[in-house]
Amino acid sequence: MKKVLFLLTILIASLAFFSCGEEKFKIGLSLPTQREERWVRDKIKMLEVAKKLGVELMVQVSDNDQGKQTSQCENLISQGVKVLIVAPHDASASSTIIEKAHKSKIPVISYDRLIMNSNVDVYISFDNVKVGELQGEYLTKLVPKGNYVILSGAPTDNNATLFKEGAMKFIKPLVDKGDIRIVMEQAVIDWQPANAQKLMENALTANNNDIQAVLAPNDGTSGGCIQALAGQKLSGKVPITGQDAELQGAQRIVQGTQTMTILKDTRFLGEKAIEIAMKLAKGEKFDTNGTVNNGKIDVLSILLTPIVVDKANIDEVLIESGYLNKEDVYKK
Ligand code: BGC
Repeated sequence: MKKVLFLLTILIASLAFFSCGEEKFKIGLSLPTQREERWVRDKIKMLEVAKKLGVELMVQVSDNDQGKQTSQCENLISQGVKVLIVAPHDASASSTIIEKAHKSKIPVISYDRLIMNSNVDVYISFDNVKVGELQGEYLTKLVPKGNYVILSGAPTDNNATLFKEGAMKFIKPLVDKGDIRIVMEQAVIDWQPANAQKLMENALTANNNDIQAVLAPNDGTSGGCIQALAGQKLSGKVPITGQDAELQGAQRIVQGTQTMTILKDTRFLGEKAIEIAMKLAKGEKFDTNGTVNNGKIDVLSILLTPIVVDKANIDEVLIESGYLNKEDVYKK
């Protein structure tokens, strides 16, 4: 009798879990911004995959405001999501989101950006140190000597630290050798292109335009720097990196004002996140391919591979793969 009752309880619990009466199975998604194209793509992909699987994806965007992100996540928790996918604005402050979710027995996926000092259930991202290595390697091969401007992303974003760490593996030895001189080294608050532009303008003024290379951490900040360079008739003359393979970045590559970008195919990342969210909710096992330490634990991680894009391979990597449209990229 006891056994039958037990089985019955499990049956009812799982019915409630998956059907919630007429309600759909809910996943919460908290994104930092929709101002950058890359985060728009992540959202579109995840909505598409969720729809295909018949689950409800409840999306919130915090607009680079940590207070807003925390309270939006609290709301998602109270609305009964089974899993929370969070791309944090502030990597450290977001640990409270994890504590709150765990109190309600909701697992959290740290999406693209790692949430620090907390018991993150799983981290799904790209190999972010590798992203930086690709930028640093590309730039130092092209410009092994000269004056460098080194910009990094938002100090609140752990990815910014990893990108820079990767890039400096290539730049630092040449600085030590005396071949490269760093004339500016600054973080760009909130990854804002306008902040990057101001920093670049200052660097140009302070150095009488004598700058030979720019490490810009992503396409948005690269665009800001390129405007500053254009103001001095130097765009297209100073090699500059990027990341995200945004349409405008790709257009600048074919026009010759941006030297390279990094494709992190958000179609795969978004799909993976929803797939793992379903598995976490059902308590199913899934494969990971590494761990990343977040100051508290080694977080189980799924890290996808970034790809360098420049003028030579843009057609193959961005257009033939269907990531961007040829007409858009080559638009005058
Ligand atoms: C992401 C980049 C993005 C940047 C600014 C980083 O965490 O990994 O792809 O460009 O944030 O949003």
